[in-house]
Amino acid sequence: MKNKLVSEILSLKNEKDAVILAHSYQPPEIQDIADHVGDSLQLSRTAASTESEVIVFCGVKFMAETAHILSPDKTVLLPEPDAGCPLADCIEVPALLSMQELYPDALTVLYVNSPADVKAESYACCTSANALEVIENAPSDEIIFAPDRNLGTFVSRKSDKTIHIWNGACRSHAVADLPDMKCRMEEWPDAELLVHPETPPEAWELAHAVLGTGGMIKHVGESSAKRFIIGTEEGMVYRLRTLYPGREFIAGGNIYCYNMKMITLQKILDSLRKLEPVIELDPRIRERAYAAVARMTEITG
Ligand code: 13P
Repeated sequence: MKNKLVSEILSLKNEKDAVILAHSYQPPEIQDIADHVGDSLQLSRTAASTESEVIVFCGVKFMAETAHILSPDKTVLLPEPDAGCPLADCIEVPALLSMQELYPDALTVLYVNSPADVKAESYACCTSANALEVIENAPSDEIIFAPDRNLGTFVSRKSDKTIHIWNGACRSHAVADLPDMKCRMEEWPDAELLVHPETPPEAWELAHAVLGTGGMIKHVGESSAKRFIIGTEEGMVYRLRTLYPGREFIAGGNIYCYNMKMITLQKILDSLRKLEPVIELDPRIRERAYAAVARMTEITG
């Protein structure tokens, strides 16, 4: 059954000139059929450069919206339209505008995990991989950072700028199970603990390194350790096992994103057959959001 689904997806993908992009938090069977698996930054770069007419985005809504912002002439499909992001949903335009009124000299640096209309009101976007670089290069010593308070706190500790941090959080990372991380560390004392900056500061204190998902991949490649405890969404454990079959990866902190797991092979097939659900944005919002996303790519190359 699974093989039949996979072969139908692959043949339809060629017929429709589609590319399948998957975030590293996607379930294994989806990572396996994707043309590109990556972090938010890599996927937005791939979306901007692909020649394919159709992008099937296996991730959550803000990621598919970012692909559409960067590739407006392509058809961007999100196979499960309800795959949202509670972190993105914790910021809305009127509230950001009020914060901007409070700090009129500050530039807004917005984590891409945010809605398109809020991106449209921002100076620049960033991902967990480049948040510090974007902040350091923004032409103001005063920054509003939104919506993730943990990532904001993490970068504010590395920057001399005044950073006003929005009080939002990822529902999966912010409640990371620290006793579980400690247990894994006791069980595997030779393992390195890697945690995502969306986890709370108490997790960073336990960890050997605090990194976005792309940073974790790079770190493992450069480390001499044989075992790693992975303090981010558990899909990342499969991604790392695929990339580094000689190493051992253990999930730590019970971090699970239900939205990321809403995409299934059947939904990808249906989406390719019908060429829907298509991600669409008001063109005025899209253009202004593009300016913020483009500024991130200008700064970080
Ligand atoms: P990355 O930027 O590391 O891909 O993380 C994306 C994300 O949504 C974390 O919750």
